[in-house]
Amino acid sequence: MDIFTALRSDHEKQRLLMQALVETTGESASRKDFFNDLKTQLSQHSTAEERYFYAPLMEVDDTVQVARHAIAEHHEIDELIEQLEQTEMSSPTWLKTMKDLKHKVLHHLAEEEKTFFQQAGKHLSSTQKTELANQYQAEMSN
Ligand SMILES: [Fe+2]
Ligand SMILES: [Fe+2]
Repeated sequence: MDIFTALRSDHEKQRLLMQALVETTGESASRKDFFNDLKTQLSQHSTAEERYFYAPLMEVDDTVQVARHAIAEHHEIDELIEQLEQTEMSSPTWLKTMKDLKHKVLHHLAEEEKTFFQQAGKHLSSTQKTELANQYQAEMSN
């Protein structure tokens, strides 16, 4: 498995969780459970992705900009999560903010998959792609 396949597979989990979340209502058990899963998934993913995908890209002039941009988006995603945690789950604002989060994350994932992976692909060796996948997955299964 290479790093791109590993990241893509977790992106798919995020998409499914967010779709399930926007279909929940009020302060239901399913909303709470899906939200907890999403929070864990997003924070583990962004940390492991920064360590085992963006860190090596920061070392290459061509991909520094891409890595910075992605890490800035991770921060914006964290802020929306915080906003959701501070909002009453039963209020209409919660769902509205959740939809904003979904929109932002979907944009981020698409940009990573359609643009950043291609650029990164040119600068990582095939050994590196496999090693990074192993390290990424080991951290995600902690
Ligand atoms: Fe990301
Ligand atoms: Fe990602």
